[in-house]
Amino acid sequence: MNDTRRQAFHKLLSFFAASPLVQAQKDLEYKPEHLPGVDQMVNVFEFEPLCRYRIPKENYDYIAGGVDNEWTLRRNREAFDRIVIRPRMLVNATNMDLSTTLFGAKVASPILFSPTAGHQLAHPDGELATAKAAASSNTIICLSSNSSYPFEKVAAASEAPKWWQLYPREDDLATRERVERAVASGYKVVVLTVDAPYNSHRERLLRNRVRAQVPSGDPGATASNTRRRRQDPERKPLPYRLEATLVAQWDWTYVSKLKEWAKTPVLIKGILTGEDAALAVKHGADGIIVSNHGGRYLEYAPSTIEVLPEIVQAVNAKFPVLIDSGFRRGTDILKALAMGASAVMLGRPVLWGLGAFGQPGIEKVYQLLETELALAMALCGKANLRQLDKSLIRSDR
Ligand SMILES: Cc1cc2nc3c(=O)[nH]c(=O)nc-3n(C[C@H](O)[C@H](O)[C@H](O)COP(=O)(O)O)c2cc1C
Repeated sequence: MNDTRRQAFHKLLSFFAASPLVQAQKDLEYKPEHLPGVDQMVNVFEFEPLCRYRIPKENYDYIAGGVDNEWTLRRNREAFDRIVIRPRMLVNATNMDLSTTLFGAKVASPILFSPTAGHQLAHPDGELATAKAAASSNTIICLSSNSSYPFEKVAAASEAPKWWQLYPREDDLATRERVERAVASGYKVVVLTVDAPYNSHRERLLRNRVRAQVPSGDPGATASNTRRRRQDPERKPLPYRLEATLVAQWDWTYVSKLKEWAKTPVLIKGILTGEDAALAVKHGADGIIVSNHGGRYLEYAPSTIEVLPEIVQAVNAKFPVLIDSGFRRGTDILKALAMGASAVMLGRPVLWGLGAFGQPGIEKVYQLLETELALAMALCGKANLRQLDKSLIRSDR
């Protein structure tokens, strides 16, 4: 980076660090020609201010926001600081191999893309770019039920292994038909998200008077609408009331029904206790994703890394336990893997990469994290994922 660009970029970062209340992009002082290029990004955090700069404020707030005071959102990051790593020395770690196999798909590393709604909020190429980035990174994309592009179009956009996330509908027939269509178009795993039975109060959205609905209409039908989350033109306050989503009416018996329709592995996303992990096993789930939805639903839900030990303990060692919410560093990922997670998924970092640079931005986010993970493992004397176990970490409470 030349000096002028470096100065401008550091000015941008310190601007955001020093002025959390300043929201309007028009207040930024630097000029577009001074923005850093994708090859100048040094860590995942640096993508967020650039994404924020490049997309409409309402879109950024939708991506960034958590529920209420955003306590869980903050805790997702802070919890990693209470875990230290116990490295081992003089171990041959010359042949680093981060690869793993998940539900039949061999991937370069245990770093996957979480389902996040409406990628066109970040970039016009939306999920098509994300799917291509997953393919070039040799990883898995889990497509949201509320994607900007129809799932068939995303399936056709790249060769990446693809999973599909479901928010069930009231009408079983309609849900079944969607699931069958998704599976027929190439999605190999169905992910049932269970932590959003009611719409939550994301106050950034309430202030912007923008709705966050789960679930929305037909995936794809909303493509042009999701390019920009529009404020209510009359700026009426949004209704502030209990608003059930279609997930609210289902119980654990839904899992076997879904398995019958999908005929693929079914994962349950949004598990935060050992009790629910055991119920997921009992009801035939093929794996779980430990998640608090990136701090977007229940305020004061725990961070996922702090509940991972009780969840791993509640299930058989071979049962796949994936995790997301707050992962931003290779060492965060290493800690989860050492605690027994099979893989880690990324939510906002993918959207930051997409918003900042399109497909190359996502590829860079992935590459930075994969490299950080490899480096952290190598410095601990661990050459592959099989060598990771809980002796590698210590809780520092
Ligand atoms: C903008 C946004 C949209 C999301 N949309 C969905 C969704 O449609 N379905 C779902 O299961 N989870 C959704 N999530 C939750 C993510 O799958 C994931 O759990 C969360 O983002 C992980 O936390 P992180 O953003 O801190 O990495 C969304 C998250 C964000 C930030």
